[in-house]
Amino acid sequence: MAMTYSPLTIALTKGRIEKETEHLLTRAGFDLEFMADKGRNLIFESPDQQLRILLVKAPDVTTYVRHGVADLGVVGKDVLMEHPTGYLEMLDLNFGLCKFSVASTEAYNPNDHKRKRIATKYPTVARDHFNRKGEDVEIISIQGSVEIAPVIGLADAIVDIVETGHTLVANGLSIYEDICRISARLIVNKAALKNKPQVLSFIRQMEGIVGTEEVPFK
Ligand code: PRP
Repeated sequence: MAMTYSPLTIALTKGRIEKETEHLLTRAGFDLEFMADKGRNLIFESPDQQLRILLVKAPDVTTYVRHGVADLGVVGKDVLMEHPTGYLEMLDLNFGLCKFSVASTEAYNPNDHKRKRIATKYPTVARDHFNRKGEDVEIISIQGSVEIAPVIGLADAIVDIVETGHTLVANGLSIYEDICRISARLIVNKAALKNKPQVLSFIRQMEGIVGTEEVPFK
């Protein structure tokens, strides 16, 4: 008797990298017609029931994969650095390129010995970065619009994502230090990798398309 498997389930990050992920899936030969007209739907299944796509917020991609309700996930390295456990990172997809940087106003002195206040949406990344430099900093966690924090006096500097740099410029900030390159990654649930044959073939297929060579950011 032929074995039947539940659909290959992929959690995709809504927003910035959504289109590029869909483009990649199409290049891999998947017909995504079933999600052409998304409306407000967040879950999509192909008519042949081979593929299921969940559209979720970036940090939740890791949660769905960790709990095994998604076999695979596509999410930025920024999110993985902040939520580093419960999945295997399989592939650098080489799109969604940006970087983590430390930025502030002209008034910032990175060599100041006082304990710095760093505002960020990425407390783990920020703490790890300053720890590596041997600096104990106060982390102020905020949810967004981080760029105003040094301007308004909430923090001495920020740790945030920089893509075009336009948001920094618009708010009178400049980069003092780059932390690392960020790109979209393919992650997998460990049990799914072991037990669902189509998961490994999917990963191999993606590898064939994007290659294993890292595309640099700028
Ligand atoms: C990110 C980041 C910056 C901006 C950088 O925010 O926090 O604000 O993008 O992009 P740029 O260098 O091209 O200007 P995002 O747009 O993801 O919104 P969020 O604050 O809601 O997370």
